[in-house]
Amino acid sequence: MKRGVFITLEGGEGTGKSTQIKLLQQALSAAGIETLATREPGGTNQAERIRALLLQRDSGTFDPMTEALLLFAARREHLVDKIWPALERGQWVISDRFADSSRAFQGHGMNLDMRVIEDLYRMVAGDFQPDLTLIFDLDPEIGIQRSLHRSHRAGTTEDRYERMGLPFHQRLRKGFLDIAKQFPQRCVIIDAAQDVQMIHRQVLRVIETRFGVSGKEVQRG
Ligand SMILES: Nc1ncnc2c1ncn2[C@@H]1O[C@H](COP(=O)(O)OP(=O)(O)OP(=O)(O)O)[C@@H](O)[C@H]1O
Ligand SMILES: [Mg+2]
Repeated sequence: MKRGVFITLEGGEGTGKSTQIKLLQQALSAAGIETLATREPGGTNQAERIRALLLQRDSGTFDPMTEALLLFAARREHLVDKIWPALERGQWVISDRFADSSRAFQGHGMNLDMRVIEDLYRMVAGDFQPDLTLIFDLDPEIGIQRSLHRSHRAGTTEDRYERMGLPFHQRLRKGFLDIAKQFPQRCVIIDAAQDVQMIHRQVLRVIETRFGVSGKEVQRG
C-alpha cells in the first residue's frame, strides 16, 4: 500500500487554517482520497490534555523550554498514535499546525534557542517531515481580530496565545516567513488576506502541482 501524504497548515492565529482544512478535506474526499484532519497541540486524547494546559487562558506562564518540552511530548503522542499509523494505511493526513509552530512560537516568538527545538524534533520525529507545508501569511492585527471574534462566538477560553500582544504576533509572522525560506522545498506561502474561495482554489492548485491530484473545488457551507 502506498504511504499517504502529510500536509501541515501553519501561520498566525485567525489566518483561516481551520476554514481551509475543512474545504480541502471535502475536496480531496470528493476526488476519492481518504483523509484524516487533525490538529496540534493535541490530536489524541493524551495530547489534548497537554493542549489544554498550554492554551487555556488561566494557565499562567511557562519557561519557554518547558513549553517546548510539553509541545514535543504531545507531538510524540500524536505521531505514534495517529499520524504515522494513518500514513501507513495510505490516508492523507492534514494537520492544523505541526512543528513549524514550535519553531515560530517558542523559537521566534519566545526566543528559545532554535537548536533546542531542532534537537527535540530529531528526538521525537527523526527524519520524518511533512510532504507539504502551507504557511498562511496575514497582518496579525487582522488575524487576532478574526480569531478573538470566533473564540468569543464559540465561548472558548483557549486563547492564551491570542492574548500575548501584537509585538509577539509580529515576531510570529516574520518567524513563519523565515521558516518558509529555510525549508523552501516543502513550504508554500499563502496570502491569507484573499477571500476564502480564492485561497481554497490556490491550495488545490498547489496540491495538483505537487502530487498530481485534482481536488474538486467545494463551496464554503
Ligand atoms: N479568507 C478569509 N477572509 C475573511 N475571514 C476569514 C477567512 N478565512 C477565515 N475567516 C474567518 O476568520 C475566523 C478565523 O478563521 P479560522 O478559524 O479558519 O482561522 P485559524 O487560522 O484556524 O484560527 P486559529 O489560529 O484561531 O485556530 C473565522 O471566523 C473565519 O470564518
Ligand atoms: Mg483554527
